[in-house]
Amino acid sequence: MDISVSPGDISRAGRPTDAGGTPALLEMREISKRFPGVLALDRVSFDLHAGEIHALVGENGAGKSTLMNILGGVYPHGTYDGEIRIKDEVQRFDGVRAAEDIGIAVVHQELSLVPEFSIAENIFLGREPRRFGVIERESLYSRAQRVLDELHLTLEPHVPVGYLGIGQQHLVEIAKALARDARILVDHRASRRPHRQHGSNVRSRRASRHRADGRP
Ligand SMILES: Nc1ncnc2c1ncn2[C@@H]1O[C@H](COP(=O)(O)OP(=O)(O)O)[C@@H](O)[C@H]1O
Ligand SMILES: [Mg+2]
Repeated sequence: MDISVSPGDISRAGRPTDAGGTPALLEMREISKRFPGVLALDRVSFDLHAGEIHALVGENGAGKSTLMNILGGVYPHGTYDGEIRIKDEVQRFDGVRAAEDIGIAVVHQELSLVPEFSIAENIFLGREPRRFGVIERESLYSRAQRVLDELHLTLEPHVPVGYLGIGQQHLVEIAKALARDARILVDHRASRRPHRQHGSNVRSRRASRHRADGRP
C-alpha cells in the first residue's frame, strides 16, 4: 500500500522545518508496520507543526488507524520500523502511557466516558485533584469549568455525561484530552462518520494552519 503526504513534506530536503527554521513538532519517518499476511504501512512519513490541523484521508484498510495507533503508543517501539520524533527528539514509546506523558492524546473510536459520572468527573477521571487522598470537589468543578470555558463550551460541569448527545460527549472527550495538556490531539472518532471513499491512498491534508509567515 502506498501512502503519500502533502507534496511539500516529502520533497523538502533534510528535516522538515517551517519558514522560521523551527523543527516540526512531530515527525513520523518511514514508518512500516506488518501484521501477519499484510503490510499495513509501507514507509509512511508524516510531519506536523504546532498549530496545524491535518486530516488523514483514505479508504477502509488504508492504514490510518495503524499509523495513529503507532503515534499513540498502542503499537510500541520495536513492533514497527521507522522513527517518531517530537521536537527533533527520537521517541520510543513502550505503551499508551508513555505517549500520553509526552503530550499525545488520542480520542478513541470507543467512548471512554462514564455515563453516570458528571462532565467534570469524566474530564479528570483518574487524575482528580485530591487532598489527603480525598477528592476536592470544589477544585474539580472549578477546574472543569475553566477547561470548558477555554474551549468555549457551554456545558454545565455537574451534568452527568449520560444526559448528553453523542456530539456533546465527543466535545467532553476533547476537553478531557486537552485538560491533560496535550500537545498533539488525535481525533480518531472522526472516522466513525459515514463518508465517501477517497481512493486507495491515505493523504495528509493541510486543512488549516496558523503560521507566523501567513503562508497558505
Ligand atoms: N490488529 C490487526 N491485525 C491484523 N491486521 C490488521 C490489524 N489492524 C489492522 N490490520 C490490517 O492492516 C491494514 C490497515 O488497517 P487500518 O489501519 O485499520 O486501516 P484504516 O484505519 O485506514 O481503515 C488493513 O489491511 C487491516 O486489515
Ligand atoms: Mg481505521
